[in-house]
Amino acid sequence: MKLSRWVATAAVAVATVATLNTLPAAAGRQYDPTDQSLRNLGLRHNLYLGTAVDMAALDDPADPRYRQIVGSEFSTVTAENVMKWESLEPTRGSYDWAAADELVTFARQHDQRVRGHVLAWQNQLPKWLTDGVADGSISNAQLRDLLHKHITDVVTHFRGKIWQWDVVNEAVSDPWDTPPTLHYKGFWAEHLGPDYIADAFRWARAADPKALLFYNDYNIEAFGSGDPANDKTQFVYDMAKGLLARGVPIDGIGSQGHLGTQYGNYDTLQVVAALKKFSALGLATAFTEVDVRSEVTEGMGSNEINPRLQASAANYHVLLQACLADRHCLSFTVWGFTDKHSWVPGTFTNEGLANIYDENYQPKRAYNVLRGDLIYAGPPYVLPRVPQKPRR
Ligand code: G3I
Repeated sequence: MKLSRWVATAAVAVATVATLNTLPAAAGRQYDPTDQSLRNLGLRHNLYLGTAVDMAALDDPADPRYRQIVGSEFSTVTAENVMKWESLEPTRGSYDWAAADELVTFARQHDQRVRGHVLAWQNQLPKWLTDGVADGSISNAQLRDLLHKHITDVVTHFRGKIWQWDVVNEAVSDPWDTPPTLHYKGFWAEHLGPDYIADAFRWARAADPKALLFYNDYNIEAFGSGDPANDKTQFVYDMAKGLLARGVPIDGIGSQGHLGTQYGNYDTLQVVAALKKFSALGLATAFTEVDVRSEVTEGMGSNEINPRLQASAANYHVLLQACLADRHCLSFTVWGFTDKHSWVPGTFTNEGLANIYDENYQPKRAYNVLRGDLIYAGPPYVLPRVPQKPRR
């Protein structure tokens, strides 16, 4: 063997040993070579594999598989709905923590980390808040105080129990909105102006010095999709850069990863480039809500279903492989894991098949593709995650 080749091989071997030696006991567990679950395979890379959790399904005694799979396959969980403002404070001044606390307890019992979702978002706000703003009984100044109080109360309640908070969610418009030029959209920007974003991060940091604070959005998986002058990924990148320049304590960018097989999709290199551009700013990244839906019609046969399952699996693969390639991509969370409990059919007419297990909890091709990605990855291209320090 030539000297240069030997040196390179030795360097990889040393890096590999160093890598294995420094593998943190993620979620309190050590890698077990006999366990093929997603969460265990993720330990090889110190990558957390997660799911959104529907609390009604978790608590349904008639549906025990749901609870069993949440516990056995995943090392991080996100509340699909129960940490949203309308759930936590349905009546003004009166909090209902029960369901969210139950998820946090479940996570502790199963050695799982919790992604907190969500602090400032324009959807699923309590009616008393939106009605109060609409009828003028809540002024914009009072609204700002209410958002401050909400973030302080919620982050304080869960202090020390949340790994990553989605502090601000979906603040940026899409090219199909009016006006089509990208802008800060929705309830908070309309009433408080875009500075609510910096405020939200500062208020969250004041209430929990250790949680990682994320901006979370969809359609930011890659740069350059669509009109370059109106690129949402670039808009979010510029926003994050601007926040950092102002000393705002943002720690990460969550790319949701809601994809559809009927659209033009990405390749791994495009997605890696986006993640690495975000992490070059000093930010962690994460996939936070991955699912890949397809158009479905009643009575579709396997000739039509199989290619959709294949295309869905390919998209899961692209996102996970890209996450593995960025050492700052800390977690990969699916937005529900079974077609039995998915937001997709209720939101998009005639769409479904979005998850990694079917309606009967049979693992689909996408599930095995994810496992393959975790198994057949390692140095030199895939190295363990670099933990992120919360920014002050
Ligand atoms: O709780 C009520 C229940 O009392 C009522 O009987 C039932 C009748 O429709 O509705 C229930 O509320 C539903 C709620 O989910 C809880 O199941 C709402 O109608 C429904 O709109 C709501 O949908 C959620 C959606 O956010 C709301 O925007 C989905 O479950 C949830 O998966 C989805 O999650 C979002 C992320 O938070 C942010 N990113 C996009 C993602 C997908 O839309």
